[in-house]
Amino acid sequence: MELRSGRRALLIYWITILICGTIILYGNIFEMDYLTVRFNKPLLKQGSKENNFTIDTPGCKIPYLDAFDKNIRKYTEKYSKPICDVSSPLVASNLTSIFVLPSSFPLYHIEDLRYLECCYQPFWRIEPEKGEEDTKIEFDNTCYPFIDDIDIQDEFIKVTCKYNSTNIYVDTFSFVPLKNGMKFQADPDRLNVLVLGLDTVSRLNLHRQMPKTVKYLANLGGVELMGYNKVGDNTFPNLIPVLTGLTEDELINNCWPHPNDNFDNCSFVWNLYKEKGHITAYGEDCAWMGLFNYERKGFKKQNTDFNYAVFNRMSEGLIGNSKEVDCNQCIGSRLVYKELLDYMKKFVITMDTNRLPYFGFFWEVTILHEYLNSPQVCDDDYHLLLKTLLEGNHLNNTVLVFMSDHGIRWGDIRETFQGKMEERLPFVFFLFPDWFQRKYSKAYENLKINTKRLTTPFDLYETLVVLVNPNDLLVDYNLKNTNLLDRGISLFKPISDERTCEDAGITDNWCTCTESMDIEINNKVLDAAKSAVDNINFQLKGYTQCAKLTLDTVIDAKLVWNPSVKKNTSLDYSLTLRTLPSQAVFEVTMSNLRNDSFEVIGSISRLNLYGDQSSCITDFHLKLYCYCVSLLG
Ligand SMILES: *[C@@H]1O[C@H](CO)[C@@H](O)[C@H](O)[C@H]1NC(C)=O
Ligand SMILES: *[C@@H]1O[C@H](CO)[C@@H](O)[C@H](O)[C@H]1NC(C)=O
Ligand SMILES: *[C@@H]1O[C@H](CO)[C@@H](O)[C@H](O)[C@H]1NC(C)=O
Ligand SMILES: *[C@@H]1O[C@H](CO)[C@@H](O)[C@H](O)[C@H]1NC(C)=O
Ligand SMILES: *[C@@H]1O[C@H](CO)[C@@H](O)[C@H](O)[C@H]1NC(C)=O
Ligand SMILES: *[C@@H]1O[C@H](CO)[C@@H](O)[C@H](O)[C@H]1NC(C)=O
Ligand SMILES: *[C@@H]1O[C@H](CO)[C@@H](O)[C@H](O)[C@H]1NC(C)=O
Repeated sequence: MELRSGRRALLIYWITILICGTIILYGNIFEMDYLTVRFNKPLLKQGSKENNFTIDTPGCKIPYLDAFDKNIRKYTEKYSKPICDVSSPLVASNLTSIFVLPSSFPLYHIEDLRYLECCYQPFWRIEPEKGEEDTKIEFDNTCYPFIDDIDIQDEFIKVTCKYNSTNIYVDTFSFVPLKNGMKFQADPDRLNVLVLGLDTVSRLNLHRQMPKTVKYLANLGGVELMGYNKVGDNTFPNLIPVLTGLTEDELINNCWPHPNDNFDNCSFVWNLYKEKGHITAYGEDCAWMGLFNYERKGFKKQNTDFNYAVFNRMSEGLIGNSKEVDCNQCIGSRLVYKELLDYMKKFVITMDTNRLPYFGFFWEVTILHEYLNSPQVCDDDYHLLLKTLLEGNHLNNTVLVFMSDHGIRWGDIRETFQGKMEERLPFVFFLFPDWFQRKYSKAYENLKINTKRLTTPFDLYETLVVLVNPNDLLVDYNLKNTNLLDRGISLFKPISDERTCEDAGITDNWCTCTESMDIEINNKVLDAAKSAVDNINFQLKGYTQCAKLTLDTVIDAKLVWNPSVKKNTSLDYSLTLRTLPSQAVFEVTMSNLRNDSFEVIGSISRLNLYGDQSSCITDFHLKLYCYCVSLLG
């Protein structure tokens, strides 16, 4: 990883002036040159521009932000599709077979077919022992020969080809064969849930980067949450609530006491679907740093019926190439993100053809991991995938949840007010079959209203839970049977317009329903900043491999408050500061307590990459803060 270089020359000062708590003016003092990249005009009306708020309720006002604001546009640039080391495959697959591609023979110098020998070798996951990494696989002893093409009954295979006794080709393929006990079911009432996730894409960045997909979903009546606010820093603390309804700390107390424990004792939403007789699938790429695997021990028993991560891990290890930061962009000649989409398509079509109810969760990381401008690369592919599935009538019994976990967390855009807001506001789109809206009209109506309410990953969990028993949606929910004090509320129930961040389980540092004011860097601010650095040093206590940090400078300071709370109970300072020796840039919200001391709210964010600075520590939280003593020279 490369540390963001000090491009402070490009600093733009944002002033947020608030008048009477309702009018927000944005203005930048300096007009800078910016890269002139042409992006499409906004496709959708994004919130209510007229009254300057995207969410405008008594409990929460989220300022209106323009995806195509000229101050943001300068951070958007063209991103090229990765180029794989292998230009063409020799073997390819469809839903059920692999086949040799004669068109590639010249490239592989194949002249006489009698000298070409190809075979495939199945492989599968085996359960790790206690304390072992969840990465173990086993290969079939036999490599089964084939000529031209062959039908595959296995889930994952490795293909090897020799020409004139020399290895010329290695590839891997994944399939979705029905497993033990899975057979055609003709339940007309079945409802499937398909979660398609994109890592690190804010709602507005989706609109900037993937206009084709957005337009397609919107034209089909896709329902977009405008006030979906993240609840934690990175992927884990934002997806754990979606999958379990718990915070990371609650998960630790509940079922995952130690980082070296596996997650088998935790109850994930796919378990509920499984109990109801659904087939479950979990797919992620760049799986070495997967949700349950990065500095964690995964599962002993496989979490879902189908798990694509097993394949991805093996595949990337064997033929991964074109690495970009942390992730291989290709396996052999194929783009990793497309491979995940292909697998997902195989899963959906197989389930649909066999009328099997399912819950599928597919999370794309490889092409998106920490790049603001890379989602544009896959717009066409997501658009085409959805089109193929819908036009093939494969989603007539399926609720599609297209979503992200958070926006970009570091880089130049994070130094702007809008960048900070976008980080906290990821996208969520629902797409329902036509009949859903008619059958569950009241629930659907509530959802539409909730698109203009403050919502969270905890709500999304409750929504996924209720879809296990869709006929529960026939209950005529009204505000009386929704408890404002519930942290997570199904999005099919009416959510009160009085809901505040506190009600919804969003700590002040992530809350976007706030107003703020630039303040000068006075002694009070410096006290707050020093207190934040003390907090970091306290967390690093006992880790002698990490250097003690000191405050270099406060880059930005704001006073933050929640306009919907009648009385300011404390004053919150939102600070951006730099520390030495790491040149780390942190963002923190400090609460000024009555006795004049300060307290960190939530966690401290890092706005530039830590790269190799923290290679001496494995704790995934402390990696953000640690500067290894060994680098001091
Ligand atoms: C919205 O903001 C603009 C200035 O940016 C202001 O002129 C207008 O009155 C505001 N509208 C409302 C409803 O507050
Ligand atoms: C897959 O390819 C095999 C071999 O070329 C062919 O026989 C089969 O019909 C194809 N199946 C599909 C679903 O396209
Ligand atoms: C196969 O390799 C041998 C040497 O290893 C060589 O003599 C022979 O010409 C090759 N045959 C073909 C068809 O390439
Ligand atoms: C999981 O639960 C079992 C039975 O309650 C217990 O013996 C085991 O220690 C738990 N494992 C973890 C990792 O908490
Ligand atoms: C879609 O599903 C609904 C409800 O099960 C059914 O009435 C309808 O005929 C289906 N439409 C298509 C095109 O299969
Ligand atoms: C809260 O504090 C801010 C900053 O001092 C101030 O502008 C705002 O009016 C206060 N709100 C209330 C309700 O007191
Ligand atoms: C201020 O109050 C907090 C709790 O309200 C306490 O933890 C802290 O020690 C106090 N600080 C001082 C300097 O008294």
